[in-house]
Amino acid sequence: MDNFEIETPRQLVGKEKIAERIEELGKQITSDYKGRDLTIVCIMKGCIPFVADLMRHIDIPFKIDTIQATSYHGGTETSGTVIILQDSTIDIKDQYVILVDDILDTGKTMMKIIEQFRGKKPKDIKICVLLDKPSRRTEAVQADYYGFQIPNKFVVGYGLDYNEYYRNLPYIGVLGSD
Ligand code: IMP
Ligand code: MG
Repeated sequence: MDNFEIETPRQLVGKEKIAERIEELGKQITSDYKGRDLTIVCIMKGCIPFVADLMRHIDIPFKIDTIQATSYHGGTETSGTVIILQDSTIDIKDQYVILVDDILDTGKTMMKIIEQFRGKKPKDIKICVLLDKPSRRTEAVQADYYGFQIPNKFVVGYGLDYNEYYRNLPYIGVLGSD
């Protein structure tokens, strides 16, 4: 564990609140997408716990796929350059697509993915994130579905990492004096 200090993050959103909110989001998506060809595209790896819980509250048929994008090269500040490391494999032409990520921060990642996905000719693209940090937005993109809006703090847990650690934390927490 090089250069890694074990520290217990301060809780910002507890696991019961997260579970309740995800159930609500699943019900909302179920009713909004009834009768539609839905493909859920998960942005790895931050989405893992969120999408695993969310998908079990979506009570209609849908396909699921993953892509991997990154803008952080370690640390807490985005590099601003978004790289798509692994693209989707399901044909999303004429599909209703929901892109699922852990957090919408500056919006650069989502913007880049949306631009690329438009070329695949889906019927519609919507965004679903567990957390929304609207004060940090630099791109004209907003979440169609979000779990919680949070202040401008660097958070970890429930999929969100700091240098790839803390994704397994069952709650959303804040590190250090942030
Ligand atoms: P954006 O491109 O600035 O919107 O950043 C999106 C990505 O940055 C997310 O998918 C996260 O992986 C990461 N990110 C943004 N804010 C945080 C944070 O507070 N904690 C951990 N990761 C974050
Ligand atoms: Mg991420």
